[in-house]
Amino acid sequence: MQLKFGSSPVVVASSPEMAKEFLQTHDNIFASRPTTAAGKYASYNCSDLTWAPYGPFWRQARKLYLTQIFNPKRLDSFESIRIEERRAFISSLYALSGKPVVIRDHLTRLTLSTASQMVLSNKYFAQSEGARSLPTFEEFQEMIDTWCLLSGVFNIGDWIPWLDRFDLQGYVKQMKALHKKFDRFHNHVLDAHQARRKTERDFIPKDMVDILLQYAEDPDLQVKLTSDQIKGLIQFVIYNYSYTSLALDLGSNRLLKHPRLIRKATEELDRVIGRDKWVEEADFSKLPFLEAIIKETFRLHPPATLLLPRYALEDCTVAGSNIAKGTTVFINTWSIGRNSKYWDSPEEFIPERFLEKDIDMKGQNFVLLPFGSGRRRCPGYNLGIKLIRSMLANLLHGFNWKLPHGMKPEEICDRSSACAIIKLNLIAS
Ligand code: HEM
Repeated sequence: MQLKFGSSPVVVASSPEMAKEFLQTHDNIFASRPTTAAGKYASYNCSDLTWAPYGPFWRQARKLYLTQIFNPKRLDSFESIRIEERRAFISSLYALSGKPVVIRDHLTRLTLSTASQMVLSNKYFAQSEGARSLPTFEEFQEMIDTWCLLSGVFNIGDWIPWLDRFDLQGYVKQMKALHKKFDRFHNHVLDAHQARRKTERDFIPKDMVDILLQYAEDPDLQVKLTSDQIKGLIQFVIYNYSYTSLALDLGSNRLLKHPRLIRKATEELDRVIGRDKWVEEADFSKLPFLEAIIKETFRLHPPATLLLPRYALEDCTVAGSNIAKGTTVFINTWSIGRNSKYWDSPEEFIPERFLEKDIDMKGQNFVLLPFGSGRRRCPGYNLGIKLIRSMLANLLHGFNWKLPHGMKPEEICDRSSACAIIKLNLIAS
């Protein structure tokens, strides 16, 4: 579907065939991102990999993440952090056992705490609101929520450039204010890391910021990294974790509507893991029903209902239609997941459908694209999926899920994540 938003041509691809055209057949032409106010003002002038235009900086940064930060060996080396965070999360839920909890709050806290532990060793938050130079953990969480919101807003100035300077909706003002807060925080984190590098004998990188700083000093880098680019690269690693808690929240929401599925998943866990153990990362391959629940959640509720926009670098013809250079392309994963040509009873939550079909989530199969596909596919896939599997499996394994007294499954709203904030009783089992 070709449209015009203001003065900008836009294409929305809503079928797996068209998604394949843009993300695979013509991936090289659509490998860039449009420049948006969010990228400019809230992401260090598009230095955060997500918004970076296709080119030498993006290629170098992506290589850095894939080879140095998200490679399997490095991710394994951070497993102890994930285990420790998971234990703290489970203990805090045990303490609330029998009381209604808003599960989303806990998941968000867990994912953010795990992320900041891996990225920056988690010690940069003020303990109380009195220490004003740094945000408290809660304030930082709020900053990230605002960043996610502002990154996804429809900012008129992005589509009608001559209106940009008026900032009619006030978003740019908010982005600039938020940027100031993040910048203060990043400066502090970088200074502390640099100081440790200089003073510690036999320095060994402990977290992702250390790895990034070490890499930035490599004299052979094709693009020398500026301090803003380094901050941009730190920024995205922490903030993309919100996808993880959102996915988990939506999955929990759907399960609560279908107690039969909770029973089936816990039967699998009891049989494979046993009642006296927690689920570890090595167990995932033995839990096909859990995997099917995750895929079905992503099919109906992809965290990015429209994939991050792509941008045409040159004129081209796609499936017989001419697409002009400068066109923005959106892939509509929400409608692809509900297309009755590919899915029986598409509105129904039926994880079993994935037990019969061999469909992966890595972007090879265009009917299911929660992590995108092609050159700009999510580089955090391995980490994101580990966190989701581990948290969902252990929540199901360790707790009985119940709705608060008097609430019926059919009263749960599943249309958006905002409505997915529900209370449930987690009873230590
Ligand atoms: C449930 C978890 C996650 C989901 C569903 C998810 C989903 C996505 C999607 C849909 C895209 C756009 C892909 C495209 O344009 O084709 C993306 C891009 C990206 N994701 Fe993720 N993501 C998740 C977790 C993470 C994590 C944990 C990180 C990093 C710590 C991360 C980092 C990124 C980055 C940097 C990009 C931009 C890549 C580029 O433009 O080159 N994601 N993600």
